[in-house]
Amino acid sequence: KPLKLHVFTLFPEMFEGVLGSSILGKAEQKELVSYHIVNFREYAQNKHSQVDDYPYGGGGGMILKPEPLFHAVEDVLGFTPHKSQKKRPRIILLCPQGEPYTQAKAEELAQEDELLFICGHYEGYDERIRTHLVTDEISIGDYVLTGGELASMVIIDSVVRLREGALGNEQSAKTDSYSTGLLEYPQYTRPADFDGMKVPDVLLSGHHANIEEWRRKESLFRTWQRRRDLLESYSLSEQEKAWIAE
Ligand code: ADE
Repeated sequence: KPLKLHVFTLFPEMFEGVLGSSILGKAEQKELVSYHIVNFREYAQNKHSQVDDYPYGGGGGMILKPEPLFHAVEDVLGFTPHKSQKKRPRIILLCPQGEPYTQAKAEELAQEDELLFICGHYEGYDERIRTHLVTDEISIGDYVLTGGELASMVIIDSVVRLREGALGNEQSAKTDSYSTGLLEYPQYTRPADFDGMKVPDVLLSGHHANIEEWRRKESLFRTWQRRRDLLESYSLSEQEKAWIAE
């Protein structure tokens, strides 16, 4: 069953190249996913197509009004989410205040069959969007973007590649950094000696057990050096503990 993705944005043109290229584009051609981009300005009611307004109580900046987003989402769902007992699909709001995004969250979202993404652009959201429309608020990191569009594309990319058939090589999603809990080991291809920069001998040896051990040590060592925080949630085998002790 294909994964249905709907994105609500004022800048639909930002999505064309990203969703049309590479793995994300091929996934749609293979009918593993469908992309539906909605310009929610089309749901603005007044004659100026106004989607934002001044904050009550004053202060700077503009705030996205609730009506255009509620109506755009309602049109996609076929029911009024805040007036219905029906189970709604996940409706994700991209914002710096959201839950920090992780590979575990990507794996959770990849189990769904429909996802909605709401993208604001350089402005705040009326709080009723958070409290009565959205099911998940997600941040992709501790920095501020000009809008949720890039963040939604990051999430879409990481979710679509986990769907069965999206990657050519099914192995790759399972051995990535973060899926194993450790960073990836170093890899090399030909030539074995490039201007004096040599490939480690063990990789040329053809000794599979030694290669496996070298890779597991390198993964662990690299994680220890670069991301010690990841080791706290990773359960080390007895052998890995011994390697660290060395
Ligand atoms: N919108 C602006 N900054 C963001 C971030 N870091 N994550 C998600 N959405 C955002």
